[in-house]
Amino acid sequence: MRLLLRLLCCCLALAAVTLAAPEPELRQAAEFGRLKLACPRGKGARSAVKGAQIDWYLNGQQKLLTKPAGTLRPEFFTDDSRLKLKNNRLVLRNIQLSDAGSYSCLISEAGPEQSPQWINYTVVVSEEQFYDFDLPEIDSQYMDGYECGWEEEEEMGSQTGEETKPYFANKDELRRMQAVPLGDPVTICCHIKGSPAPEIQWLYNGRPLSESSHTVSHVEVGRYSLFVPSMRQYDNGNYTCVGRNLLGEVSHMTYLEANDAAVLVMPCIEEGYPLNVTAFIGENATFDCLGSWDWEMDLFWVFSENNTVHVRDLADMDRLNRQAINEKQDGGRFDISTKQRLVIHNVTLNDTGFYTCIAYNTLAKAHARAYLTVLEPLEEIPVPLAHSRITVILSVVFGVLVLAGIILVARFYGRMRLERRERERAVEKANAFHAMTKKVIIDHQNMLANGTIVAPTIRIERCKPSKEGSVMSAYELPVDPGWEIPRARLQLGKQLGEGAFGRVVRGALDGSAKPNSSVTVAVKMLKEGHTDAELMDLVSEMEVMKMIGRHVNIINLIGTCTQDGPLLVIVEFAPHGNLRSYLRERRHTTGYERAFDHETPTVRELTSFAYQVARGMEYLAAKKCIHRDLAARNILVGENKTLKIADFGLARDIQNNEYYRKVTDGRLPVKWMAPEALFERLYTTQSDVWSFGILLWEIFSMGGMPYPSIPNVEKLFSLLREGYRMERPPGCPQKLDDIMRQCWEYYPNLRPTFTELVEKLGTLLTSLAPQEYLDLGQPSPPDSGDSSHDVSVDSQFELFKSTAM
Ligand code: ADE
Repeated sequence: MRLLLRLLCCCLALAAVTLAAPEPELRQAAEFGRLKLACPRGKGARSAVKGAQIDWYLNGQQKLLTKPAGTLRPEFFTDDSRLKLKNNRLVLRNIQLSDAGSYSCLISEAGPEQSPQWINYTVVVSEEQFYDFDLPEIDSQYMDGYECGWEEEEEMGSQTGEETKPYFANKDELRRMQAVPLGDPVTICCHIKGSPAPEIQWLYNGRPLSESSHTVSHVEVGRYSLFVPSMRQYDNGNYTCVGRNLLGEVSHMTYLEANDAAVLVMPCIEEGYPLNVTAFIGENATFDCLGSWDWEMDLFWVFSENNTVHVRDLADMDRLNRQAINEKQDGGRFDISTKQRLVIHNVTLNDTGFYTCIAYNTLAKAHARAYLTVLEPLEEIPVPLAHSRITVILSVVFGVLVLAGIILVARFYGRMRLERRERERAVEKANAFHAMTKKVIIDHQNMLANGTIVAPTIRIERCKPSKEGSVMSAYELPVDPGWEIPRARLQLGKQLGEGAFGRVVRGALDGSAKPNSSVTVAVKMLKEGHTDAELMDLVSEMEVMKMIGRHVNIINLIGTCTQDGPLLVIVEFAPHGNLRSYLRERRHTTGYERAFDHETPTVRELTSFAYQVARGMEYLAAKKCIHRDLAARNILVGENKTLKIADFGLARDIQNNEYYRKVTDGRLPVKWMAPEALFERLYTTQSDVWSFGILLWEIFSMGGMPYPSIPNVEKLFSLLREGYRMERPPGCPQKLDDIMRQCWEYYPNLRPTFTELVEKLGTLLTSLAPQEYLDLGQPSPPDSGDSSHDVSVDSQFELFKSTAM
């Protein structure tokens, strides 16, 4: 009874103070960000409550912590290590969506005469967009960007009743300029006070924020602050806060700038990676940490038996880095030669636990973990001797059913085999006197009347071999005397690249015009075990290359080997590999870790690259050839920095959903696709123009990954539909950025044609260095380019044209 009474009293007291409590203050926090709730809120209140007890509650009932009167040390009622009490402020880090709710603080003064005081907050958590904002603490400038100093200051007590014109309550927080790494959050603080309370307005570059189209979408205006959750280059500019009341006005302008480390991207580990793995003792286990990386990023793996890896600040990072798995430990069972992949060989029970991959660069870090379950080999389970009667009956019935099923399936297959045998026997009988071969028939009938090119139809028919006794290949291809090269003149070398069914190898082709001379070529061929369809694709590519003819900015066909062996398609060799790797190897690095000793291309050179690709595409477009996969990975760099478009003749299966999968380097090919190609599978030269825009972006970001923080196709779809486009890469001239944007017009007919692009880029190139403009695509003087090959690609071609069969 007494207990009940006491409970009732407590409830009444609680109800009384709750009723007396002021309205909760609404506080907005970003997921993964930090939140500070002051208690008490007023100026000087810190000292006033030294002797008071402070209790924090979540959602009215859950007690989070108590700071007993007269001490500074809080007592926690939750083991959530993200929670702290600092300077009378509840600090919550790495905020999760589930942290939203009402937070209440109860201040109980020591003396009986003082009544308890409640301070209430309603916290809403907005979903994080793409990045992990949980930055290392060194970046205090940016971490503090989440909030302003006035939070600690007097809020309500400032009203004295006396009329005052607007003034800055905290002049220290006013900055003339704030430089922020791209993608970081930033807050401009501007606490203007006055009486009557001033009305506060924000201007962007002198105009009301609400009127500026590009930036407002993601800028949040707070009571006395402006918050940019993720700084983009478009957000650069002057932000002015203006405070007005009847007595006057004050204003302050801050210049915000996304600083130059902008090519860096936030590390972003793809959702779902690494995957949990289950392995038997002695097997290998592999974890992949897929995501978007730039050249500055590093990654390491950490093992923990239980789920306790915290990566909150730099100290954690340091500690974890020291514990990182290395290849030498435990007899070299850990393979991290590909950083994004951890392979554990010969797993043991001790390997059971969490594997966390931590990716970081100077901007931020990201981490994700997966669990390895190690199983002992299965032992034979002894069959219990005594079965119950029901189990026996069920087993018998099940056994009979299975047996009947097996008999039925066996009879069905037997019948099918018999029928197939009979059919084969009939065919064998019909061809009794002849061995059969597959004849490849190339039908050029559907070449259009206006001379434009359509891939020929390729058919395969079974027939008897036309050359008796010399069946070197399962296929018989027609000879094209204009292109055929004797196999004996070709020596195959090391592999340059491979796909699922084909490969490209380096070759040396003996010249017949110049004895004892050979030139390097690239040779396309099929892998063993290919299908008829794959052979038809290679034949089609070869025929398209023949029909398209020559241009300096495409990979030209040199010849073919079609007789007495597997099909070999010989094309020009580009000594500097693909454009993407070429650019990445030449990125400007600041420090000691320079891996390649190459010069960084100038803006003019990059513009020349863009111009050359546009010229190659103009030529292909004139021949009505749609590339469908124009990207820096498909552009090769030839001698004298001549760019050559490759793979334009490939037959592409656009209906195939594989197209939406990542390529070997982890990139999503869909990121190069125009909306109409993505949504309607509609490919035209104008959809190639869109891809050309992405390629321009790749060029001017020195081989960067387009849309680095967009992890999957679904996200890309929604962003493109909303009109999102990539930002200008740092250092990229404005005019080139304008061209990119034109290429990314949603409607294909609003995009420029390749002829217009050649014109625009040509003009730009002229303005950059008029005297060098005419040299484009021609071999440069000996000192300016690569001189390891003494014959230019074009002269090689001439050599081989004249010796073709
Ligand atoms: N890789 C694929 N094709 C190539 C070529 N033509 N030259 C150099 N490397 C290649």
